[in-house]
Amino acid sequence: MKVFAGNSNRILAESICNYLNIPVGNATVRRFADQEIFVEIKENVRGEDVFIIQSTSYPANDHLMELLIMTDAARRASAQRITAVLPYFGYARQDRKPGPRTPISAKLVSNLITEAGANRVLTLDLHAGQIQGFFDIPTDNLFAVPILARDIKDHYDVSNVMVVSPDTGGVVRARALAKRLDALLAIVDKRRDRPGESEVMNVIGDVDGKDCILIDDIVDSGGTLCNAAEALLKNGATSVTAYITHGVLSGGAVARVTSSKLTELVITDSIQPTTAVQNAHNIRVISTASLIGEAINRTASESSVSSLFD
Ligand code: R5P
Repeated sequence: MKVFAGNSNRILAESICNYLNIPVGNATVRRFADQEIFVEIKENVRGEDVFIIQSTSYPANDHLMELLIMTDAARRASAQRITAVLPYFGYARQDRKPGPRTPISAKLVSNLITEAGANRVLTLDLHAGQIQGFFDIPTDNLFAVPILARDIKDHYDVSNVMVVSPDTGGVVRARALAKRLDALLAIVDKRRDRPGESEVMNVIGDVDGKDCILIDDIVDSGGTLCNAAEALLKNGATSVTAYITHGVLSGGAVARVTSSKLTELVITDSIQPTTAVQNAHNIRVISTASLIGEAINRTASESSVSSLFD
């Protein structure tokens, strides 16, 4: 097996390779003056089982192109099998037509990855599970829940915990965490009764006196998270902590989180944390390297990946 990395998350790629006890493959990804991407794989991959690690995070389009071009390079170098490893799959939120004459960009990106030459895909906490079906090649969607549950048990007293989904779309994920922690489940239901009226946050479940743990797949602007935290505290929650797999954290999100009443936001390293994230007093990053490393290991040895979650 050979593992290569694009520029989106070298640190995670190195940690994954440490777990696998192999070096990161020798490849350069650089730019022409006009920003075209040029890739050179500098070691033989003929007949090899090749894994290319690249999150399609900010800048999403550049990182996606890097992944496509690296995949093309590996295919033309006669790799026997290529697995695109996307710890964060950008464009996943565009998984349906929100209106007439709009694209389904998640499907387009899936097509591009396949057309570039990937034989398999390995990703983590897809925004919507059905995106797996956008690929006609084997696609493994790993879950961060076991890592998150372990961290919660290590850092918090779970006897008074209530797991909360910040919207109705995240209930399945929240239920999976609540089950692992043997905790109760609540839901924040955002509703706008009439157009033009402001959104009302209804909390379904009695969070009074509870230590709430919000779980979500993505924190981007931080709006969903901070509004949900406010609503929970207004409803009597003792504290609110958040566990979110992908720290997109665009624009003023870090400032929003640091000035919020959240005890802590825990994210994973699926997206390389910026300096602002690293310096934030209430944001902590936990690693997915062993989870992704083990999934790569099992893919290479043709053993079960799903049993990682038993
Ligand atoms: C939405 O369905 C997602 O699960 C996240 O809740 C959303 O992407 C978070 O975005 P933001 O932080 O901008 O509210």
